[in-house]
Amino acid sequence: MERVLSVDKEQKAGVIGIASGKGGVGKTTISVNLAIALTKLGKKVALIDADLGLANAQILLGANAPFNLSDVVKGSKEIKDVAVETKQGLILVPGASGNSEVANLNSLQTQSLIQSLFEAYRGLDIIIVDSAAGLSSSNLTFIRACDLRLVVMQDEPASIADAYGLIKLQSLEKRMKDLFILPNRVENQAGGQKLFEKMNGVCMRFLEEPVGYLHSLEEDDAMRTASRRREDIFEKYPNSKLAISFTALAEKLAAEMSAH
Ligand SMILES: Nc1ncnc2c1ncn2[C@@H]1O[C@H](COP(=O)(O)OP(=O)(O)OP(=O)(O)O)[C@@H](O)[C@H]1O
Ligand SMILES: [Mg+2]
Repeated sequence: MERVLSVDKEQKAGVIGIASGKGGVGKTTISVNLAIALTKLGKKVALIDADLGLANAQILLGANAPFNLSDVVKGSKEIKDVAVETKQGLILVPGASGNSEVANLNSLQTQSLIQSLFEAYRGLDIIIVDSAAGLSSSNLTFIRACDLRLVVMQDEPASIADAYGLIKLQSLEKRMKDLFILPNRVENQAGGQKLFEKMNGVCMRFLEEPVGYLHSLEEDDAMRTASRRREDIFEKYPNSKLAISFTALAEKLAAEMSAH
């Protein structure tokens, strides 16, 4: 347990943001399982649940977190007091749930929260930020602050349109570098690649610049069963398509981060 908490103060953790535009496309599932996969690769990882409206990473991790970011925003707790070390060996900073005051932070308040969060965990290897759905100013501030962004999308019109909306905003802000499409719930890797190519074609045509791609995540019943039973897919279903793909994605991301 000490392993994760003894951090190198000089190092600067790479920050990976998980974003989408449309809600319900798999951001939290991906953030949690990617954090576990990276931990299994020997990385020291902190997962920040930046969904300040309806947070739920702690449920998926089976973590017991008595306090959360709303206590930090209200000033009654420090970040390290609300963070918990989970049984998977990573640090979770629990998000706020059902607190409208916290859900509607302005961009200055969000910036100061992000600065404190990144400072608290700069000595780790990787910080993963599970963002909220939508394009609220506090959400965009979180996404902007990440070194590398993954835009989760599914092969359905609303998800594609909302992912493009988010990519377009990034393009307007000249932030296309280190922006990757992450197709989720695809039939197979070839299907995911095709979905990426479709989106990349739209980006090339209308934004005149490409978007990145690393790997896709398959639709997998193992995920549904595991999340219903609060199980870890890496332990219970290590040979499932999804567990294998999460590990492959984690390896590619670790390589990207070390190239930074
Ligand atoms: N690859 C997958 N295979 C099977 N089920 C999946 C997969 N990815 C996500 N799901 C399921 O999709 C549902 C929504 O996922 P999740 O809560 O992670 O989405 P989200 O983007 O975080 O949603 P929100 O925008 O509300 O925060 C969950 O029931 C989850 O188990
Ligand atoms: Mg979520």
